Amino acid sequence: MDSPSSNISLKKCFVILISQFCIACIFFLLYGKINLASIFFKINLEEPSLELSNHSQITILLWTWPFGDTFPLNQCPLSLNNSGCFYTQNRLLYSDADAVVLHHRDVCCSKKNLPQLPRPPNQYWVWFNLESPSNTPRLDFLNNLINLTMGYRSDSDVFAPYGWLEQNDKEVNFTIPTKNKLVAWAISNWDSNSRRVRYYEQLKQHVSIDVFGRLHRSLSNNEQQQVLSQYKFYLAFENSVHEDYITEKLWKNSLMYGCVPIVLGPPRANYERFIPKDSFIHVEDFSTAQELAAYILQLDKDDKAYKKYFHWRTRFHSIQEFGWDIHYCKICKALKKAPKHKTIASLADWYK
Ligand SMILES: *[C@@H]1O[C@H](CO)[C@@H](O)[C@H](O)[C@H]1NC(C)=O
Ligand SMILES: *[C@@H]1O[C@H](CO)[C@@H](O)[C@H](O)[C@H]1NC(C)=O
Ligand SMILES: *[C@@H]1O[C@H](CO)[C@@H](O)[C@H](O)[C@H]1NC(C)=O
Repeated sequence: MDSPSSNISLKKCFVILISQFCIACIFFLLYGKINLASIFFKINLEEPSLELSNHSQITILLWTWPFGDTFPLNQCPLSLNNSGCFYTQNRLLYSDADAVVLHHRDVCCSKKNLPQLPRPPNQYWVWFNLESPSNTPRLDFLNNLINLTMGYRSDSDVFAPYGWLEQNDKEVNFTIPTKNKLVAWAISNWDSNSRRVRYYEQLKQHVSIDVFGRLHRSLSNNEQQQVLSQYKFYLAFENSVHEDYITEKLWKNSLMYGCVPIVLGPPRANYERFIPKDSFIHVEDFSTAQELAAYILQLDKDDKAYKKYFHWRTRFHSIQEFGWDIHYCKICKALKKAPKHKTIASLADWYK
Protein backbone atom coordinates (compact mmCIF):
# COMPACT_ATOMS: atom_id res chain seq x y z
CA MET A 1 0.00 0.00 0.00
CA ASP A 2 2.69 2.35 1.07
CA SER A 3 4.93 2.31 -1.95
CA PRO A 4 2.30 2.90 -4.77
CA SER A 5 0.80 5.94 -2.94
CA SER A 6 4.20 7.49 -2.37
CA ASN A 7 4.92 6.83 -6.05
CA ILE A 8 1.77 8.77 -7.00
CA SER A 9 2.65 11.71 -4.75
CA LEU A 10 6.19 11.71 -6.18
CA LYS A 11 4.74 11.86 -9.70
CA LYS A 12 2.41 14.68 -8.61
CA CYS A 13 5.31 16.54 -7.18
CA PHE A 14 7.28 16.08 -10.34
CA VAL A 15 4.42 17.34 -12.53
CA ILE A 16 3.98 20.40 -10.30
CA LEU A 17 7.67 21.11 -10.37
CA ILE A 18 7.89 20.79 -14.16
CA SER A 19 4.86 23.04 -14.71
CA GLN A 20 6.18 25.63 -12.31
CA PHE A 21 9.48 25.52 -14.10
CA CYS A 22 7.70 26.06 -17.43
CA ILE A 23 5.72 29.00 -16.06
CA ALA A 24 8.94 30.45 -14.76
CA CYS A 25 10.51 29.96 -18.19
CA ILE A 26 7.63 31.77 -19.91
CA PHE A 27 7.89 34.67 -17.49
CA PHE A 28 11.61 34.72 -17.97
CA LEU A 29 11.23 34.91 -21.75
CA LEU A 30 8.51 37.57 -21.54
CA TYR A 31 10.29 39.79 -19.08
CA GLY A 32 13.72 38.39 -19.71
CA LYS A 33 15.52 41.68 -19.67
CA ILE A 34 14.00 42.84 -16.41
CA ASN A 35 14.25 39.52 -14.62
CA LEU A 36 17.80 38.96 -15.71
CA ALA A 37 18.67 42.45 -14.61
CA SER A 38 17.04 42.09 -11.24
CA ILE A 39 18.86 38.85 -10.62
CA PHE A 40 22.13 40.64 -11.18
CA PHE A 41 20.90 43.54 -9.14
CA LYS A 42 20.38 41.33 -6.14
CA ILE A 43 23.89 40.04 -6.44
CA ASN A 44 25.46 43.45 -6.80
CA LEU A 45 23.22 45.53 -4.68
CA GLU A 46 24.50 47.11 -1.53
CA GLU A 47 21.08 48.40 -0.59
CA PRO A 48 18.67 45.53 -1.21
CA SER A 49 15.61 47.76 -0.81
CA LEU A 50 16.12 49.22 -4.29
CA GLU A 51 14.19 47.58 -7.10
CA LEU A 52 15.07 47.69 -10.74
CA SER A 53 11.50 47.36 -11.98
CA ASN A 54 10.79 50.78 -10.49
CA HIS A 55 10.96 52.68 -13.77
CA SER A 56 10.59 56.07 -12.19
CA GLN A 57 14.11 55.51 -10.94
CA ILE A 58 17.04 57.03 -12.83
CA THR A 59 19.62 54.35 -13.58
CA ILE A 60 23.19 55.58 -14.02
CA LEU A 61 25.62 53.09 -15.51
CA LEU A 62 29.34 53.53 -15.00
CA TRP A 63 30.64 52.04 -18.23
CA THR A 64 34.02 51.56 -16.55
CA TRP A 65 35.46 52.19 -13.14
CA PRO A 66 37.69 55.25 -13.62
CA PHE A 67 41.23 53.94 -14.21
CA GLY A 68 39.93 50.68 -12.75
CA ASP A 69 39.54 52.22 -9.28
CA THR A 70 36.54 50.81 -7.45
CA PHE A 71 34.53 52.54 -4.74
CA PRO A 72 31.15 52.11 -3.07
CA LEU A 73 28.16 53.07 -5.19
CA ASN A 74 24.85 54.41 -3.89
CA GLN A 75 26.38 55.82 -0.72
CA CYS A 76 26.27 59.48 -1.63
CA PRO A 77 26.26 62.32 0.91
CA LEU A 78 22.75 63.60 1.62
CA SER A 79 23.82 67.10 0.58
CA LEU A 80 24.14 65.90 -3.04
CA ASN A 81 20.54 64.69 -3.04
CA ASN A 82 20.68 61.47 -4.99
CA SER A 83 17.07 60.56 -4.31
CA GLY A 84 15.55 58.69 -7.23
CA CYS A 85 18.89 57.62 -8.68
CA PHE A 86 20.55 54.26 -8.79
CA TYR A 87 24.20 53.79 -9.74
CA THR A 88 25.51 50.55 -11.15
CA GLN A 89 28.48 49.27 -13.09
CA ASN A 90 26.67 46.19 -14.33
CA ARG A 91 26.74 46.40 -18.11
CA LEU A 92 23.79 44.01 -18.38
CA LEU A 93 21.66 46.97 -17.33
CA TYR A 94 22.78 49.00 -20.34
CA SER A 95 19.43 48.91 -22.11
CA ASP A 96 17.63 50.17 -19.01
CA ALA A 97 20.18 52.85 -18.17
CA ASP A 98 19.09 56.48 -18.32
CA ALA A 99 22.68 57.60 -18.43
CA VAL A 100 25.96 55.90 -19.28
CA VAL A 101 29.09 57.52 -17.91
CA LEU A 102 32.13 57.17 -20.15
CA HIS A 103 35.38 58.01 -18.38
CA HIS A 104 37.57 59.38 -21.11
CA ARG A 105 40.84 57.66 -20.30
CA ASP A 106 39.17 54.26 -20.16
CA VAL A 107 37.44 54.48 -23.54
CA CYS A 108 40.03 56.55 -25.38
CA CYS A 109 40.21 56.49 -28.27
CA SER A 110 38.22 53.86 -30.08
CA LYS A 111 34.55 53.27 -30.75
CA LYS A 112 35.21 49.63 -29.86
CA ASN A 113 35.46 50.72 -26.22
CA LEU A 114 31.95 52.21 -26.28
CA PRO A 115 28.66 50.36 -25.78
CA GLN A 116 27.89 48.26 -28.84
CA LEU A 117 24.21 47.42 -28.26
CA PRO A 118 21.48 49.55 -29.87
CA ARG A 119 21.22 52.80 -27.99
CA PRO A 120 17.93 53.59 -26.21
CA PRO A 121 16.67 56.90 -27.65
CA ASN A 122 16.44 58.82 -24.38
CA GLN A 123 19.68 57.61 -22.90
CA TYR A 124 22.37 60.15 -22.11
CA TRP A 125 26.01 59.43 -22.71
CA VAL A 126 28.00 61.43 -20.20
CA TRP A 127 31.62 62.18 -21.07
CA PHE A 128 33.75 62.36 -17.91
CA ASN A 129 37.24 63.80 -18.06
CA LEU A 130 39.43 65.62 -15.55
CA GLU A 131 42.48 66.17 -17.75
CA SER A 132 43.01 69.49 -19.48
CA PRO A 133 42.48 69.85 -23.24
CA SER A 134 46.26 69.83 -23.74
CA ASN A 135 46.31 66.33 -22.32
CA THR A 136 43.15 65.15 -24.06
CA PRO A 137 43.99 64.63 -27.72
CA ARG A 138 42.01 62.75 -30.37
CA LEU A 139 38.46 63.57 -29.37
CA ASP A 140 37.04 63.04 -32.85
CA PHE A 141 35.99 59.45 -32.20
CA LEU A 142 33.26 60.84 -29.94
CA ASN A 143 31.72 63.23 -32.47
CA ASN A 144 27.91 63.16 -32.42
CA LEU A 145 27.81 60.53 -29.67
CA ILE A 146 28.01 62.47 -26.41
CA ASN A 147 25.01 64.18 -24.81
CA LEU A 148 26.41 65.63 -21.61
CA THR A 149 29.81 66.60 -20.27
CA MET A 150 31.28 66.10 -16.82
CA GLY A 151 34.50 67.63 -15.57
CA TYR A 152 36.29 70.57 -13.97
CA ARG A 153 34.95 73.12 -16.43
CA SER A 154 32.16 75.09 -14.78
CA ASP A 155 30.12 75.03 -17.98
CA SER A 156 30.02 71.22 -17.89
CA ASP A 157 26.60 69.64 -17.48
CA VAL A 158 27.99 67.89 -14.41
CA PHE A 159 30.43 70.25 -12.72
CA ALA A 160 33.10 68.11 -11.04
CA PRO A 161 35.90 70.42 -9.88
CA TYR A 162 39.14 69.37 -8.18
CA GLY A 163 38.10 71.26 -5.06
CA TRP A 164 35.90 74.03 -3.76
CA LEU A 165 35.23 76.25 -0.77
CA GLU A 166 32.45 75.79 1.69
CA GLN A 167 31.17 78.36 4.13
CA ASN A 168 31.92 77.77 7.82
CA ASP A 169 28.88 77.38 10.06
CA LYS A 170 30.39 80.00 12.34
CA GLU A 171 33.57 82.06 12.26
CA VAL A 172 36.67 80.04 13.06
CA ASN A 173 40.17 81.05 14.07
CA PHE A 174 42.38 79.25 11.63
CA THR A 175 45.76 78.26 13.03
CA ILE A 176 48.53 78.78 10.50
CA PRO A 177 50.91 75.80 10.58
CA THR A 178 54.35 76.57 11.99
CA LYS A 179 56.49 77.97 9.19
CA ASN A 180 60.24 77.67 8.99
CA LYS A 181 60.73 77.42 5.22
CA LEU A 182 59.92 79.67 2.33
CA VAL A 183 58.91 78.29 -1.11
CA ALA A 184 58.09 74.72 -2.12
CA TRP A 185 57.18 73.12 -5.40
CA ALA A 186 56.36 69.50 -6.16
CA ILE A 187 56.43 68.45 -9.79
CA SER A 188 56.34 65.01 -11.38
CA ASN A 189 56.26 65.81 -15.10
CA TRP A 190 59.30 67.94 -15.71
CA ASP A 191 59.16 69.49 -19.16
CA SER A 192 61.93 72.04 -19.56
CA ASN A 193 60.06 73.76 -22.39
CA SER A 194 56.87 74.21 -20.39
CA ARG A 195 55.83 77.64 -19.25
CA ARG A 196 55.91 76.63 -15.61
CA VAL A 197 59.47 75.28 -15.70
CA ARG A 198 60.69 78.32 -17.59
CA TYR A 199 59.04 80.58 -15.02
CA TYR A 200 60.60 78.58 -12.19
CA GLU A 201 64.06 78.91 -13.77
CA GLN A 202 63.67 82.69 -13.65
CA LEU A 203 62.16 82.82 -10.18
CA LYS A 204 64.83 80.67 -8.54
CA GLN A 205 67.50 83.16 -9.53
CA HIS A 206 66.04 85.56 -7.00
CA VAL A 207 64.54 83.39 -4.27
CA SER A 208 65.41 79.93 -3.07
CA ILE A 209 62.87 77.22 -3.96
CA ASP A 210 62.78 73.65 -2.67
CA VAL A 211 61.68 71.31 -5.45
CA PHE A 212 60.17 67.88 -4.76
CA GLY A 213 59.06 65.07 -7.02
CA ARG A 214 60.52 62.77 -9.63
CA LEU A 215 64.04 64.00 -10.58
CA HIS A 216 64.14 66.06 -7.36
CA ARG A 217 63.83 65.54 -3.61
CA SER A 218 61.56 62.63 -2.95
CA LEU A 219 58.31 63.21 -1.14
CA SER A 220 56.08 60.30 -0.27
CA ASN A 221 52.33 60.75 0.05
CA ASN A 222 52.58 60.08 3.75
CA GLU A 223 54.98 62.92 4.44
CA GLN A 224 53.47 65.46 2.01
CA GLN A 225 51.38 67.35 4.51
CA GLN A 226 54.02 67.40 7.22
CA VAL A 227 56.73 68.61 4.82
CA LEU A 228 54.81 71.05 2.64
CA SER A 229 52.92 72.76 5.47
CA GLN A 230 56.25 74.09 6.80
CA TYR A 231 56.54 76.32 3.75
CA LYS A 232 55.04 79.80 3.60
CA PHE A 233 54.40 79.56 -0.14
CA TYR A 234 53.62 76.81 -2.60
CA LEU A 235 54.00 77.09 -6.36
CA ALA A 236 50.62 75.91 -7.67
CA PHE A 237 51.76 75.86 -11.28
CA GLU A 238 49.35 74.04 -13.62
CA ASN A 239 50.76 71.81 -16.36
CA SER A 240 48.78 73.70 -18.99
CA VAL A 241 46.74 76.87 -19.04
CA HIS A 242 43.01 76.50 -19.70
CA GLU A 243 39.86 78.11 -18.38
CA ASP A 244 38.86 76.65 -14.98
CA TYR A 245 41.76 74.20 -15.03
CA ILE A 246 42.68 74.61 -11.36
CA THR A 247 43.80 71.35 -9.82
CA GLU A 248 44.89 69.75 -6.56
CA LYS A 249 48.05 71.86 -6.80
CA LEU A 250 45.92 74.68 -5.49
CA TRP A 251 43.24 72.83 -3.51
CA LYS A 252 45.40 70.26 -1.79
CA ASN A 253 49.10 71.14 -1.91
CA SER A 254 48.44 74.79 -1.06
CA LEU A 255 45.10 75.37 0.62
CA MET A 256 44.74 72.11 2.49
CA TYR A 257 48.32 72.18 3.75
CA GLY A 258 48.01 75.80 4.87
CA CYS A 259 50.44 77.36 2.36
CA VAL A 260 49.83 80.54 0.41
CA PRO A 261 49.43 79.52 -3.24
CA ILE A 262 51.44 81.26 -5.93
CA VAL A 263 49.45 80.31 -9.00
CA LEU A 264 50.32 79.94 -12.65
CA GLY A 265 47.31 78.99 -14.72
CA PRO A 266 44.28 80.80 -16.11
CA PRO A 267 43.99 84.55 -15.43
CA ARG A 268 43.43 85.91 -11.92
CA ALA A 269 39.78 86.67 -12.68
CA ASN A 270 39.21 82.97 -13.34
CA TYR A 271 40.64 82.00 -9.92
CA GLU A 272 38.53 84.66 -8.24
CA ARG A 273 35.40 82.88 -9.39
CA PHE A 274 36.35 80.07 -7.00
CA ILE A 275 38.54 81.51 -4.24
CA PRO A 276 38.80 84.95 -2.56
CA LYS A 277 41.12 87.43 -4.21
CA ASP A 278 43.17 87.79 -1.02
CA SER A 279 43.82 84.06 -0.70
CA PHE A 280 46.49 83.70 -3.39
CA ILE A 281 49.26 85.36 -5.38
CA HIS A 282 49.15 85.20 -9.18
CA VAL A 283 52.38 85.25 -11.18
CA GLU A 284 50.67 87.72 -13.50
CA ASP A 285 50.30 90.18 -10.62
CA PHE A 286 53.94 90.99 -11.40
CA SER A 287 55.54 91.96 -14.65
CA THR A 288 58.65 89.87 -13.97
CA ALA A 289 59.64 86.86 -11.90
CA GLN A 290 62.17 89.09 -10.18
CA GLU A 291 59.38 91.37 -8.92
CA LEU A 292 57.46 88.38 -7.62
CA ALA A 293 60.60 87.18 -5.82
CA ALA A 294 61.01 90.59 -4.20
CA TYR A 295 57.39 90.44 -3.00
CA ILE A 296 57.90 86.95 -1.54
CA LEU A 297 60.98 88.15 0.37
CA GLN A 298 59.07 91.19 1.60
CA LEU A 299 56.18 89.06 2.91
CA ASP A 300 58.72 86.79 4.57
CA LYS A 301 59.76 89.73 6.75
CA ASP A 302 56.27 91.18 7.26
CA ASP A 303 54.23 88.72 9.30
CA LYS A 304 51.14 90.89 9.42
CA ALA A 305 51.01 91.21 5.63
CA TYR A 306 51.60 87.46 5.24
CA LYS A 307 48.79 86.59 7.65
CA LYS A 308 46.32 88.58 5.54
CA TYR A 309 46.38 85.66 3.11
CA PHE A 310 44.61 83.59 5.78
CA HIS A 311 41.80 85.98 6.72
CA TRP A 312 39.34 84.29 4.37
CA ARG A 313 39.69 81.12 6.42
CA THR A 314 37.52 82.49 9.20
CA ARG A 315 34.61 82.29 6.75
CA PHE A 316 35.47 79.37 4.48
CA HIS A 317 37.24 76.06 4.44
CA SER A 318 38.45 74.21 1.40
CA ILE A 319 37.27 70.79 0.30
CA GLN A 320 39.79 68.80 -1.65
CA GLU A 321 40.16 65.34 -0.22
CA PHE A 322 37.47 63.13 -1.65
CA GLY A 323 37.21 60.04 -3.77
CA TRP A 324 35.78 59.32 -7.19
CA ASP A 325 32.40 58.66 -5.58
CA ILE A 326 31.88 62.36 -4.88
CA HIS A 327 32.33 63.23 -8.56
CA TYR A 328 29.86 60.54 -9.59
CA CYS A 329 27.39 61.48 -6.87
CA LYS A 330 26.92 64.81 -8.65
CA ILE A 331 25.43 63.17 -11.71
CA CYS A 332 21.96 62.49 -10.30
CA LYS A 333 21.06 66.10 -9.61
CA ALA A 334 22.54 67.24 -12.93
CA LEU A 335 20.50 64.68 -14.86
CA LYS A 336 17.29 65.94 -13.34
CA LYS A 337 17.87 69.37 -14.81
CA ALA A 338 19.63 68.31 -18.02
CA PRO A 339 18.14 69.36 -21.37
CA LYS A 340 15.73 66.73 -22.67
CA HIS A 341 17.66 66.50 -25.90
CA LYS A 342 21.22 67.47 -26.54
CA THR A 343 24.01 66.07 -28.65
CA ILE A 344 27.52 67.46 -28.85
CA ALA A 345 28.56 67.46 -32.49
CA SER A 346 32.24 68.05 -31.75
CA LEU A 347 33.72 67.77 -28.28
CA ALA A 348 37.00 69.11 -29.61
CA ASP A 349 35.31 72.39 -30.57
CA TRP A 350 34.19 72.88 -26.99
CA TYR A 351 37.15 71.37 -25.18
CA LYS A 352 40.09 73.57 -25.99
C1 LIG B 1 15.79 65.86 -3.55
O1 LIG B 1 15.32 65.85 -4.89
C2 LIG B 1 13.94 65.53 -5.02
C3 LIG B 1 13.58 65.59 -6.48
O2 LIG B 1 14.33 64.72 -7.22
C4 LIG B 1 13.08 66.52 -4.27
O3 LIG B 1 11.72 66.12 -4.33
C5 LIG B 1 13.52 66.55 -2.82
O4 LIG B 1 12.83 67.57 -2.15
C6 LIG B 1 15.02 66.82 -2.71
N1 LIG B 1 15.42 66.70 -1.32
C7 LIG B 1 16.18 67.61 -0.73
C8 LIG B 1 16.53 67.33 0.70
O5 LIG B 1 16.59 68.62 -1.28
C1 LIG C 1 39.12 83.89 17.83
O1 LIG C 1 40.16 84.69 18.31
C2 LIG C 1 39.71 85.91 18.90
C3 LIG C 1 40.91 86.77 19.23
O2 LIG C 1 41.96 86.02 19.72
C4 LIG C 1 38.85 85.57 20.11
O3 LIG C 1 38.37 86.76 20.70
C5 LIG C 1 37.68 84.71 19.65
O4 LIG C 1 36.93 84.31 20.78
C6 LIG C 1 38.15 83.48 18.91
N1 LIG C 1 37.01 82.81 18.34
C7 LIG C 1 36.85 81.50 18.38
C8 LIG C 1 35.64 80.97 17.70
O5 LIG C 1 37.65 80.75 18.92
C1 LIG D 1 22.06 61.64 -27.28
O1 LIG D 1 22.80 61.65 -28.48
C2 LIG D 1 22.42 60.65 -29.39
C3 LIG D 1 23.39 60.64 -30.53
O2 LIG D 1 23.36 61.83 -31.25
C4 LIG D 1 20.99 60.94 -29.83
O3 LIG D 1 20.57 59.94 -30.75
C5 LIG D 1 20.09 60.93 -28.60
O4 LIG D 1 18.77 61.30 -28.96
C6 LIG D 1 20.59 61.88 -27.55
N1 LIG D 1 19.84 61.66 -26.32
C7 LIG D 1 19.34 62.65 -25.61
C8 LIG D 1 18.61 62.27 -24.38
O5 LIG D 1 19.47 63.81 -25.90
